[in-house]
Amino acid sequence: MSKSENIFRQFSSANLVNVTPEELKANLQGRLGEIDFESEGYLESELEQQRDLSIKFHWGHDHDFGDFKIDGRMGNRHLYLFDKFLELFPLTVGSFENKHVLDIGCWTGGTTLLLSAISEKVTAVEEVKKYADTTRYLSNAFGCNAEVISESLYDLNSERFYDQFDCVYFPGVIYHLSDPVLALRILFNTLRIGGDILIETAGIQSDEPICRFDGNYIYHQNGTREELNRGGWNYFIMSGPALERMMQEAGFEQIQTFWDETSKRLFAYGKKDSQIGICKAGLSVPDIK
Ligand SMILES: C[S@@+](CC[C@H](N)C(=O)[O-])C[C@H]1O[C@@H](n2cnc3c(N)ncnc32)[C@H](O)[C@@H]1O
Repeated sequence: MSKSENIFRQFSSANLVNVTPEELKANLQGRLGEIDFESEGYLESELEQQRDLSIKFHWGHDHDFGDFKIDGRMGNRHLYLFDKFLELFPLTVGSFENKHVLDIGCWTGGTTLLLSAISEKVTAVEEVKKYADTTRYLSNAFGCNAEVISESLYDLNSERFYDQFDCVYFPGVIYHLSDPVLALRILFNTLRIGGDILIETAGIQSDEPICRFDGNYIYHQNGTREELNRGGWNYFIMSGPALERMMQEAGFEQIQTFWDETSKRLFAYGKKDSQIGICKAGLSVPDIK
């Protein structure tokens, strides 16, 4: 059994703190497949523009609660990624102890629970309200020290979030962002000096610092507008050297990138050694710290 599997096993119905196993099962199963655009803030008239995941509830990471199991779209990715980060970069499970971790794009909370078991506190951020609510429900059910913020990571560009975290955990999101450099700078600013960032992303295997722009047309060349938007919202897909340059631009140092042949994805690590400035020319939010 891997390190992460061993840690994650504790999130079974036998270890619930604030709800009963019956309540947990009914609550979570009641969410699956629910179509709810109003509480996400979408009008019916703009539905065809929106991502399927934002409208209809889909479970994220596989979770075996012991008395029942929910399979997610992301399988056991949360466990694979954590073990991979430990294998590739200068980290152990103990590195997270006493740390306040920022978990970006938590979906239904698999990673949030995992990280809360080994760190002092987790703050999870998720732009889709229904997934933020689910993560909040789960972390309360298991008595985790986790705060869940139902906002976009771009909203973290505020005084309240500056210099707050020891680690930013950022897998599976950067290619969904229209402005990855700005996102990296916002996350850089949320870190305390000495803090680090762990990134995983879809990528290009190349020694050149290149990005490919996907957009939704790559999925359905001849599709309707609705089909196009259900494709996946992937914007910039980058090579290791391109990601390294973006991270440098945002202020990170001690950067390492690694192409994983098994998952065919890119992994990266960086540290905030000082509150270095950023070039503001052309930046979409020029008044950023
Ligand atoms: C592919 S999933 C990755 C989930 C998890 N981080 C992982 O690596 O397995 C992307 C998640 O990020 C969320 N997301 C995308 N853009 C976001 C943004 N700007 N701010 C916060 N969350 C975002 C999505 O709603 C989704 O839950």
